[in-house]
This record gives sequence, structure tokens and C-alpha cells, in this order.
Amino acid sequence: LNVVILISGRGSNMQAIVETEDSLLAVRAIVSNRADAAGLRYAQAKNITTHVLSHHDYADRTAFDRALQACIDQYAPDAVVLAGFMRILGREFVQHYAGRLFNIHPSLLPDFKGLDTHRRVLEAGCREHGASVHFVTEDLDGGPVIAQVKVPILPNDTEDTLATRVLAKEHYLYPKVLQQFAAGEFYLHNGQVVWTQK
Ligand code: GRF
Repeated sequence: LNVVILISGRGSNMQAIVETEDSLLAVRAIVSNRADAAGLRYAQAKNITTHVLSHHDYADRTAFDRALQACIDQYAPDAVVLAGFMRILGREFVQHYAGRLFNIHPSLLPDFKGLDTHRRVLEAGCREHGASVHFVTEDLDGGPVIAQVKVPILPNDTEDTLATRVLAKEHYLYPKVLQQFAAGEFYLHNGQVVWTQK
């Protein structure tokens, strides 16, 4: 599986994926829309090719998406992996990568789409939280869910303690799902995740 990972910041999920590289899964490039993304330093230290494409350099979303697509397609990826990538991608882009575009979202989707999930989960008084890996479609955080991991919410949790607990689980979930995809264990068909084995 040839993988290109898109980041905007810390890149801890990217790092977790890179650390599980093996004969089935190879990270070909890291692309960031921010030159100051901390994750770029890790990628460079690992000698992984990096690209920075700032959305500020393009007239509109379509122009940015097209440049991003051209950059990614140099690597003929089997999977394009959003890992803390903070830009919304347009229809053309999403359709181009249909069935091979992944995201991880810090909530038990379909609950708590969007930003600030940890704060909102606490405010809502939930007892359980987690993260979801899903195929990306035009519906923001609404694409078919592939796998989830749950964590308990503890009485003294703050946004930070909860975020840390969820993130630790994300670092297992995302590489695992990509390894399963590499092994052909599931695919997207007519908007549904089909498992060939589980
Ligand atoms: C993670 O919480 C992920 O679920 C969300 O953005 C955060 C990215 O963190 N999509 P990192 O950049 O992978 O450390």
C-alpha cells in the first residue's frame, strides 16, 4: 500500500502510522498545508519526502485542491490519509480519491462531528468517548465509519486529560485500520464498508 499522509500540525497519528511501516504499507510522502507543522520535522528526520502547499497561495479552494491532488498523485497512492489535516476538501478532490481517502476523527461518530469534540462531550455529560476512522466523502465527518475505539470519561476529566486518553487510542486504531486495508480486509462499495474477513 502506497500511502500519502496529509497533516496540518503535530502529526502524532502520522508518526504512529510511519512506525508501523512494513512490507504491506509504505509512506511515500507527507504533505502539510502549513510550513510550521511540527510533524514535518519528524518526517524530515525520518527522510520521508515532505511537501508544503499553503492554501494562502491559491485563489480559491478548487485551485488549492487541484494543486494538492497533483502533488499527491506523483506518488500514485493507494491510500490518502488525513491525520489532523485542517482543511475541508472539495467534491472533485474527494471523488477522485473515493474509497482510498481516510480520516480519523476524535469522537464516536456520528456523534460530535466538527471541532472541539472533547469539550463538547464533557459539556454534554457523556460517559463514553472515543475516536473513529472513516472514509472521507463530501459530507464532513460523515463518511462511512470503518472502525472505532472507545474510552471511558472519568469524573475529574478535563478537555486535556480526555484528549490525551483518546489520542493514545488513536495511535493504535489508525495504523491498524490502514494495515487491514493494505491486507485487503475491507473496501468501500456503494457507500458501505464491506469486510472480506474480520
Ligand atoms: C487528532 O485528535 C485527530 O483525531 C484529529 O486531529 C488530531 C490530530 O492530531 N483529526 P495529530 O496531528 O495526529 O497529533
